[in-house]
Amino acid sequence: MADNKKIIAVVGATGAQGGGLVRAILADTGGPFAARALTRHPDSDKGKALKAAGVEVVAADLDDAASLERAFKGAYGAFCVTNFWEHFSPERELVQARNMAQAAKAAGVSHVVWSTLEDTRRWMPLDDDRMPTLMGKYKVPHFDAKGEADQIFRDLGVPTTFLLTSFYWDNLIYFGLGPKRGPDGVLTIAFPMDDKKLPAIAAEDIGKAAYGVFKRGREFIGKTIGIAGEHLSGEEMAAALTRALGQQVRFWPVEPEVYRGFGFPGADDLGNMFQFKRDFNDDFRKARDVNFSRSLNPELQSFEAWLSRHKTQIPVD
Ligand SMILES: NC(=O)c1ccc[n+]([C@@H]2O[C@H](COP(=O)([O-])OP(=O)(O)OC[C@H]3O[C@@H](n4cnc5c(N)ncnc54)[C@H](OP(=O)(O)O)[C@@H]3O)[C@@H](O)[C@H]2O)c1
Repeated sequence: MADNKKIIAVVGATGAQGGGLVRAILADTGGPFAARALTRHPDSDKGKALKAAGVEVVAADLDDAASLERAFKGAYGAFCVTNFWEHFSPERELVQARNMAQAAKAAGVSHVVWSTLEDTRRWMPLDDDRMPTLMGKYKVPHFDAKGEADQIFRDLGVPTTFLLTSFYWDNLIYFGLGPKRGPDGVLTIAFPMDDKKLPAIAAEDIGKAAYGVFKRGREFIGKTIGIAGEHLSGEEMAAALTRALGQQVRFWPVEPEVYRGFGFPGADDLGNMFQFKRDFNDDFRKARDVNFSRSLNPELQSFEAWLSRHKTQIPVD
């Protein structure tokens, strides 16, 4: 009976990660949970679609602590995520994470899954000049603030699972990282990772893994766990893209300093991110075991499976 279900308040329910979790909860019709979708815009098309699917939709803003406390009230669980790319501010991400942690504490939420990433400064201190320091005190701003925020949840005593996510293959569609034609007309993907493997995932599978975490109860509270669908080198990704798109895709192992200079917003942040993943590849990969990820989400997609569903969405001119 729906009334007996435990509520999971889902931040980012209209987005990739939270949306995947809401869909996973809805798909498990006999399961123990019901989703409560948080959005700033309940009357948006996405908000209305969630309501039409039978989801409780409530207004909440990560910049408004009181709205979060209202939205978390009565919830058993909360999925917490920030969207760095909306404002490019690690400081704002930290405030938003604190707002969620405090709201979860005040509402007595039993299990938070915090979508986080490494604070890369633990591996690469600010005075390490292998990569530039950005925004005054970060190496990879969109990673570092998330990792720094882990301690906020810990300090407040919020029962939290720290979920290390991975690069979305969906970035090939939505984030401008798809293949571009080189001067010779050959489609090219460029990541400054040499021959190192990039753990990555279908964005949809992050929410499904979070669902798996909630279903396992208290097992991962207080723990950091990482997920990926597959670890592939640039060459392996290019070969899979070549097969899927039916035309040659080449991998260009661009140097990080060249990538940082590409000039699009966040190019320096992403250049540092890829360099971090290259230079600390063993640690980065070890934290994201594919078999473990599949144990949380048996439907976990490989790159090839993701491509077979999404290849026509990859913009290729
Ligand atoms: N792209 C990647 O490869 C990758 C990999 C790992 C991690 N990440 C991280 O993923 C995060 C973004 O997650 P996503 O991809 O799921 O997001 P998304 O699809 O871009 O959607 C953003 C979501 O965040 C919500 N949101 C943003 N600001 C909010 C606010 N002030 N109050 C309430 N809700 C807010 C939006 O809700 P409304 O607009 O409905 O309010 C929306 O649901 C980023 O921080 C990024 O660093 C990305």
